[in-house]
Amino acid sequence: MLNLEQMKQLAGESAIKYIEDGMIVGVGTGSTVKYFIEKLATRKNDIKGAIPSSEQTATLLKQYNIPILDLNSSGIIDIYVDGADEINHYLEMIKGGGAALTREKIIAACARKFICIADESKYVVKLGTFPLPVEVIPMARSYVAREILKLDGAPDFRTGVVTDNGNVILDIHNLDITQPMDLEAKINNIVGVVTNGLFAKRGADVLLLAKKDGSLDVINGETYVK
Ligand code: A5P
Repeated sequence: MLNLEQMKQLAGESAIKYIEDGMIVGVGTGSTVKYFIEKLATRKNDIKGAIPSSEQTATLLKQYNIPILDLNSSGIIDIYVDGADEINHYLEMIKGGGAALTREKIIAACARKFICIADESKYVVKLGTFPLPVEVIPMARSYVAREILKLDGAPDFRTGVVTDNGNVILDIHNLDITQPMDLEAKINNIVGVVTNGLFAKRGADVLLLAKKDGSLDVINGETYVK
């Protein structure tokens, strides 16, 4: 039986088989991605370069001497590998537990293929047990919180956290997420919101889900019809 850390390692390392020579690789953020980065280091001379989704990931890439590219000059990202806080069977996700959601969403939008790496505790029938992170321009914090109350969510200011973009995070509890795509758009439409951690409009294409019994499920997004 695998423990949580071993499951993260299995999922993270398994993503390396999707990396081909000459690719531009988007690299996510978090404790599962760290295992992917270790493997990516062994291919650093084969890829065109990597685009980090956070300062934390940029630091790790530099430690491994993996070449970093600038998204504004790199063009399309061939593949994006990242974790999730929750993921459902449509491969819609909640992300942003590590406060990197905005850059993650930008990379996801630019990526041809999104591979989500996760342990089985992240796989849920319905999104929303994990509080939904929302990145907010600091001066709009109270206004956004009031608007979220109107959606029956309970916003909680994440104290002591400033995002890489200089903003703050509200974590929204008690949301009834039956229509992730609608809610993603609705929250993004509140003035002062930079983005929210629902990745429904652009979900993952493939989920590599590590299980306690040591197996890895490969769940393909195209299998499911929305
Ligand atoms: C970062 O902001 C998040 O979106 C992460 O991708 C997510 O929290 C998964 O992280 P772990 O792999 O550490 O659980």
